[in-house]
Amino acid sequence: MSQKTMEAHYAPNWKLTRAHGLLGYNCGYAAKRGCDSFGEHQRSLVWRLIGDTPIDSESTALDIGCGIGGPSGWILERFGPRRIIGLEYLGSSVRAAEDRWREEDPRPVFLQGDAHCLPVADASVDVIFNLESALHYADKDAFLTDCRRVLKPSGTLCLGDITTSHKLLFAPASWLNRLPSQFNSNIHLWSAGDYQAAFSRHGFELLRFERASRPVADSLADGLKEIRKRGWAAGRGFRGRTAFLAALEILLRCKGLSYDLFAAKRV
Ligand SMILES: C[S@@+](CC[C@H](N)C(=O)[O-])C[C@H]1O[C@@H](n2cnc3c(N)ncnc32)[C@H](O)[C@@H]1O
Repeated sequence: MSQKTMEAHYAPNWKLTRAHGLLGYNCGYAAKRGCDSFGEHQRSLVWRLIGDTPIDSESTALDIGCGIGGPSGWILERFGPRRIIGLEYLGSSVRAAEDRWREEDPRPVFLQGDAHCLPVADASVDVIFNLESALHYADKDAFLTDCRRVLKPSGTLCLGDITTSHKLLFAPASWLNRLPSQFNSNIHLWSAGDYQAAFSRHGFELLRFERASRPVADSLADGLKEIRKRGWAAGRGFRGRTAFLAALEILLRCKGLSYDLFAAKRV
């Protein structure tokens, strides 16, 4: 995957987040439809994924695939870890995250890097947070090997991803992976079962699993309503992405895709 194809994929997300004052790139989590704004749903998904994972003033947290840095900053505000490192593939997103937090809080550190080869020391991290990013990783075994390497013994990996049990159905989407356009998919989907088998293969013990497809679809429905409320003209630059999110909502509701949250301990 090149920077160019990935930049093309995320360019409309950047326009959408700017137009709507959002700080995250994730789909959000709505415990109840219509109960909150889409921006709040994005935070709720972060809290849902972290669950009861201990993070305190002694912890080092690593947010892999941190996007424009919203979740890293929210984790810092809520739990006050000693250190939070946001790692992101796209240089433009790293710069957006740095610009955002420089004025408010200089503590989060953002690095450009690849989840397949983490630029982080062995056994130095208490919690890895990885939200809606692993769907893009072509070699998830390499990613999980490196997660285990950087985690301290008993450290936790909190991983939220879009999964499918119907891989053949989505195989044609991988043909689009090479296109430098917003319609390239850049996806390599696993099933929940693939993750569970890989956790034991890579020396992790599964602590928690939640299938969150329904609350995530409800969050997308609220988000799409906010986008449509502002009218057709205001959606210029990200109409294709709006259609993509609408399709994702349908696929989550009809179980073609799932949205799964895992917490796994390094053993
Ligand atoms: C859907 S966004 C989610 C961002 C963030 N976790 C959030 O919740 O706002 C996925 C992010 O993963 C990043 N990403 C994709 N492949 C990556 C890789 N190999 N290494 C690091 N980051 C990657 C993308 O650039 C994108 O910013």
